[in-house]
Amino acid sequence: MGEATTDPVRMPPGPRIPKAVMGIGFLTARHRAVASIGRRYGGAFTVSLPIFGETAVISDPALIKDLFTTSSDLVGRTSNLGAVLGPGSTFSLDGDEHRARRKLLVPPFHGKRMIGYEAIVEEEVMREIASWPEGREFETLEPMMRITLNAILRTVFGAQGSAFDELRELFPPMIPLASRMAVMPAVFRRDLGPWSPWGRVQRYRRRYNEIIADLIAEARDDPAFGERNDVLALMLAARYEDGSPISDDHIADELLTLLSAGHETTATTLAWAIERLRRHPRLLTRLTAEVDAGGSQLLQATIWEVQRIRPVVEATIRVARERIRLGEWVIPQGHAVIASITMSHGAEQNFADAGAFNPDRFLGGNPDTHTWIPYGGGIRRCIGAAFANMELNVTLRTLLREFEFGTTYAAGERIHSRGVATAPARGGRAVVYRRRVGSKSTTRRDSERVTA
Ligand code: HEM
Repeated sequence: MGEATTDPVRMPPGPRIPKAVMGIGFLTARHRAVASIGRRYGGAFTVSLPIFGETAVISDPALIKDLFTTSSDLVGRTSNLGAVLGPGSTFSLDGDEHRARRKLLVPPFHGKRMIGYEAIVEEEVMREIASWPEGREFETLEPMMRITLNAILRTVFGAQGSAFDELRELFPPMIPLASRMAVMPAVFRRDLGPWSPWGRVQRYRRRYNEIIADLIAEARDDPAFGERNDVLALMLAARYEDGSPISDDHIADELLTLLSAGHETTATTLAWAIERLRRHPRLLTRLTAEVDAGGSQLLQATIWEVQRIRPVVEATIRVARERIRLGEWVIPQGHAVIASITMSHGAEQNFADAGAFNPDRFLGGNPDTHTWIPYGGGIRRCIGAAFANMELNVTLRTLLREFEFGTTYAAGERIHSRGVATAPARGGRAVVYRRRVGSKSTTRRDSERVTA
């Protein structure tokens, strides 16, 4: 566990690259920049970044464990996201307030509850794939974004009817714009009229607040409120230890947080799964056979391996509130520590033959929580991990049941950063053929070569 210390500061070694140059490297080629420094310096190094300054980047499992188990009184999170999502968002809360909110959010997102959401996710997959073309290559990322958006609107927001339709229209333009504004310096978040970027975000937000106020009022009037298991209803019923409810404003901020954190991350992971599977025909055949036989082990191992080799969130960050010790290093107060998910997953000492896509490595056991970290860790670990895992399972299971995938020899798609998450640069392109009921599960190799 990382702990407070008065020992002299001892940051890990690192390259002497000017801040601005390093900043450009991180912005334009994050995974490559981090990986190349990591190859030279190993599991802990220091870089100098604009805004953050001297920052320790760690991937050594012992240090990751220390960081994730350090009390949140000693390490906090820096995040502009709070400014965009609102003061009631988990991303804006720290210390006791954050702990109290997590206590209320953990039960709605508990693994056991997820079974109740499976049928809704499957319905959304079936709705989406009804229009997928056969035998013609297309991008899966946008369809996956629709599936994960609709699934969250129904299970988390409890939205149906006109509220569902309106939110489905509102979010696709609102979320990317708000995400871009979140990574900009605060000076850009000024309302300079209705057509300025921040002015547009504010306009979307006002409409969003109106829709959520209606959803909350409807839920309170719902005679079946007690039987509902959408997250909105569970948040309305939840009480802090002093008996007070989560305020309506905070519920609106939190719903937007859950959507922003959970929609694109899951969709990009699904697009990566398609991108990887098309290039592994024998695995596809085994997976289809497993799904047909009602099994799930290889599919789960495949999901873990996709998340290992193509983590859509590349890193998570903490800031030292006091001088803290992490292993042999002493980090000064106010300095940031980045836990590099990409580097941890790519390290040979953590995963043998780390560059190979090999789901079998996860058969027969769960991934280790300090080397396999796509959801971060500790008190700030992704609250939606079980939800995401359920969605990934149901979506892939349904796709394997309904389609044969055309495989390809084309080179893998490059990693493209979308801001919040990374995605396959060409959108996770697929070729599908509908399976006939009772047909043997085989995979088909495209007759035409697809260029990368
Ligand atoms: C494959 C999909 C997903 C990935 C890869 C992912 C990844 C992450 C990561 C890396 C973090 C930061 C953890 C840390 O700092 O230690 C995080 C936080 C968070 N995620 Fe996810 N996430 C996914 C899906 C979801 C879903 C579906 C939801 C909700 C419906 C969600 C809600 C959240 C929230 C609320 C936080 C903030 C937790 C806190 O600060 O206490 N995520 N996620």
